[in-house]
Amino acid sequence: MKAIKLFCFMAAAMLVACAPQNEQMVNDQMANGFMDLARARFAVREYAQTPVEQAKIDSILEAGRLAPTAKNVQPQHIYVLQSPEAIAKINELTRCAYHAPVVFLVCYDTELAWTKDGESSGNMDCSIVGTHMMLEATELGLGTCWVKWFDPAEVAAAFELPANHKPSFIMPCGYAAEGVQPHANHFSRKPLSETVTYK
Ligand SMILES: Cc1cc2nc3c(=O)[nH]c(=O)nc-3n(C[C@H](O)[C@H](O)[C@H](O)COP(=O)(O)O)c2cc1C
Repeated sequence: MKAIKLFCFMAAAMLVACAPQNEQMVNDQMANGFMDLARARFAVREYAQTPVEQAKIDSILEAGRLAPTAKNVQPQHIYVLQSPEAIAKINELTRCAYHAPVVFLVCYDTELAWTKDGESSGNMDCSIVGTHMMLEATELGLGTCWVKWFDPAEVAAAFELPANHKPSFIMPCGYAAEGVQPHANHFSRKPLSETVTYK
């Protein structure tokens, strides 16, 4: 009995010692978690042929689903290219699909996307959705690359998309091939003094 009491006391003491002391600490821990994730991501342009588990694909899609969109209309439509035929086709249409085992073709519905002063928010919405997806993929140990190097009309025709589904970008996704390192570009970021102005 004494031993059990001692064990409970020690466990409680350890929990108190490990618990965040205040809300600021909780926020700091969360911020570090996100910043670590943002730092870990880099554009992967060479993939292992290991299939991506369906649970991971589901999780990436769910992360995209949670993204905010203009007026919350959620105009995105994501085609998951993974059949051998679809993968062969996208690699014929662009050299930037990088033979990944999965390629997300992220489109927006031109009839749904919020338009202001003649400008559609579709690409902006897709970019937020894609960023969520990309970071979730990183969290799951997968590589991705954001790709704009393709002809949207050609891709839409090849995959027989409905006329209102406009391709925004593609995102190859999979396990990085062994030894893949970030390109030198990855380490080149402008200082905030060049990209931020306080007024
Ligand atoms: C809008 C956009 C378009 C891009 N298009 C391509 C592309 O067509 N092909 C490619 O290999 N990488 C493409 N990239 C990846 C960038 O080249 C890469 O993110 C950048 O050089 C920074 O490197 P990092 O992602 O490793 O940090 C694109 C990235 C963005 C955000």
